[in-house]
Amino acid sequence: MSELFQSIAFDSLTLDNKIIIAPMCQYSAVDEGCLSYWHEQQWASYALSGAGLCIVEATAVHPAGRISYADLGLWNDDQAERMKALLHKIRAISPMPFAIQLAHAGRKASTELPWRGRGQIAKNDVLGWQTVAPSPIPFSADDAVPHELSIKEIKSIQQDFVAAAQRAVEAGFSLIELHAAHGYLLHQFLSPLSNHRTDEYGGSLENRVRMLLETFQAIKEVVPTHFPIGVRVSATDWMQVESWDTASTIYVSQVLQQLGAAYIHVSSGGLHEHQVIDVKENYQVPFAQSVKEAVHIPVIAVGLITAPQQAEDILKQQQADAIALGRVMQYNPRWPWHAAATLGAEMRISPQYMRCQPHGLKDFFKPFRTS
Ligand SMILES: Cc1cc2nc3c(=O)[nH]c(=O)nc-3n(C[C@H](O)[C@H](O)[C@H](O)COP(=O)(O)O)c2cc1C
Repeated sequence: MSELFQSIAFDSLTLDNKIIIAPMCQYSAVDEGCLSYWHEQQWASYALSGAGLCIVEATAVHPAGRISYADLGLWNDDQAERMKALLHKIRAISPMPFAIQLAHAGRKASTELPWRGRGQIAKNDVLGWQTVAPSPIPFSADDAVPHELSIKEIKSIQQDFVAAAQRAVEAGFSLIELHAAHGYLLHQFLSPLSNHRTDEYGGSLENRVRMLLETFQAIKEVVPTHFPIGVRVSATDWMQVESWDTASTIYVSQVLQQLGAAYIHVSSGGLHEHQVIDVKENYQVPFAQSVKEAVHIPVIAVGLITAPQQAEDILKQQQADAIALGRVMQYNPRWPWHAAATLGAEMRISPQYMRCQPHGLKDFFKPFRTS
């Protein structure tokens, strides 16, 4: 019996299987943070993939929170209306739930698109803006010094997250993921390397986690009861000096669990340009396992998990509760079908595709329930 193809619950949301499409920025929202035709075809492709859940890319809660000028946004009603319309169309082809990752890039904002060089764009350039951060410490020596957020501005960003969360619920997303990983704003508050504040948002661990926890709680208050909210964290800054580490990650995960988090999604790195990461197969799985051993909510593992048996083994060895896949889902959006065939599991697919059931795998495909 395949573990990967068992259902899993994230708070009130039950997934068909434990395969999750990881959030991946597309830098393709060229019209004021709105969805483009690129997103339409990509979401449809993921909707037919057979995965249990798709988490839509980091979506900015404020224009200054975009990584680049072409990031997706959810700071206005027009953006939300277009998402609602697309999710409505998607539901006609697949019952797969969609989640959205809400984000603010902080000091890592105002950059060029990755395929145009990725560097930071100056605030006086037509495509750039002033970045913000917990402390006036740039990510890289080449970057402009970010504006240090006042308490009033911190509260205002928390309200941006709240407003975006309300729009996400209204648009029809089934889950919200808070992006507290990869060196973006919430992670910048967590790490002592980027947070040198002396007020209640800096200094001790309890103070550095305050921004994330308050934001989480504020969202929780406005979404329906048991609406699932997960959190993505970096488990370590991969630095040799005092920094954000696994012990701190376990601490914040336990508090988030108490506050009602639906899951913890365990990634790593992105905070410091001098990070040293030993990137290899399963390289982040031990972090997921450490968090899993300390909490009882589901833990998602991610990072260079590419083969069905590899994913299955992580679950069987109880290192994580679900598996997120990034690049391999771009490379092969039907990965879940092939994984089901490899692992001898059944797969629900659109009835239009039933006749492609491979010879010898007679009971492999089941049509979607239509009711
Ligand atoms: C093109 C691309 C865009 C990404 N954008 C995001 C993002 O928006 N939010 C996020 O948390 N991680 C993002 N990531 C990281 C992925 O979600 C994932 O954690 C990472 O690629 C490792 O998983 P993989 O080896 O399965 O690709 C991105 C990765 C890629 C390749």
